[in-house]
Amino acid sequence: MLTTLSIRPVTPEQTYSLRHSVLWPDKSPAYIKVENDTEGYHFGGFRQDELIAVISLFVADEVVNPGGAWIGRARFRKFAVHPDYQHQGIGTLLLNHVIAEAKRLGAASLWCDARMDAADFYQRFGMKAVSEVFYKGPIPYARFSRTL
Ligand SMILES: CC(C)(COP(=O)(O)OP(=O)(O)OC[C@H]1O[C@@H](n2cnc3c(N)ncnc32)[C@H](O)[C@@H]1OP(=O)(O)O)[C@@H](O)C(=O)NCCC(=O)NCCS
Repeated sequence: MLTTLSIRPVTPEQTYSLRHSVLWPDKSPAYIKVENDTEGYHFGGFRQDELIAVISLFVADEVVNPGGAWIGRARFRKFAVHPDYQHQGIGTLLLNHVIAEAKRLGAASLWCDARMDAADFYQRFGMKAVSEVFYKGPIPYARFSRTL
């Protein structure tokens, strides 16, 4: 069961197949690339040597208000668990890993653009909607955020 899941760093290229098949199967393979993928931290969930889940973390220093201090803001993107393995706690393990990594990297907050389907899941991690609902194609999203 879950004890066999191992979370390891992966390259951006290793995430592409799951990003495409789980998140955007109707789009071209290139659609799932992120412009600054090379600056991100990418993690994979493996069972044996099979990659079954991916998540990508990006940390940026931003000024929160004019004259304010710089703070590290972390964002995760392209979070995908293979359909055969969803609802088994794997996403929870990966997101907890990303929260710990974001803290380790000095980020003060964590955000994502969340599919509304997954809103309940994110709320369990203390993330709250900080935007109105918006759409990427037909899919409703809202921005979710929490402090770290
Ligand atoms: C959203 C996603 C990343 C979550 O990953 P996951 O591995 O399915 O998540 P978990 O199993 O940790 O938790 C999901 C649910 O399973 C439940 N669950 C966890 N362990 C379980 C177990 N052993 N048995 C049954 N249910 C379990 C959780 O309570 C949670 O319930 P919910 O459906 O009410 O939220 C994953 O489902 C996914 O890839 N979905 C499609 C793509 C997507 O929406 N990505 C996010 C874009 S913002």
